[in-house]
Amino acid sequence: MKYNLTLIVILALLFISCSKDKAAAEIIPISNVCDSINPVSFMNDVEPILLASCYGCHSATVPVFSDYSSVFAVKDDILKAIQHDPSFSAMPQNGSKLADSLINEVQCWIESGAPNN
Ligand code: HEC
Repeated sequence: MKYNLTLIVILALLFISCSKDKAAAEIIPISNVCDSINPVSFMNDVEPILLASCYGCHSATVPVFSDYSSVFAVKDDILKAIQHDPSFSAMPQNGSKLADSLINEVQCWIESGAPNN
């Protein structure tokens, strides 16, 4: 009987700790980067940024990107590199970090499904 009680307490503690984990995992991260930005166009917004700061090297440097489909293929790496995420090489190489407004446009374009628009 004593053993059963201990077991019940252990199981109860396990259950409580697991349900706490679950509650923590259910918190949805809120990204509001697109809230203040009008729909972003690849042709009119994103590509001019990349043309001015990236294509000069990356039409020949790996990762190679110089048009919609090649940008689409590495879009997540591009975002991390311009955000200066520590696990990626900071881009533009040897240049200053892009303005936050430009980085936000790239992020918003990706979050909108990276359309070819
Ligand atoms: C002066 C040349 C140059 C410019 C300008 C440049 N890059 Fe790069 N980039 C490189 C080189 C060289 C590498 C490969 C070596 C490295 O990772 O540092 C690279 C690597 C990368 C990588 C892979 C990083 C990784 O850690 O896997 C990405 C993504 C990238 N660049 C995106 C960009 C973007 C976006 C821009 C424009 C904002 C840009 N680059 C501008 C030269 C450049």
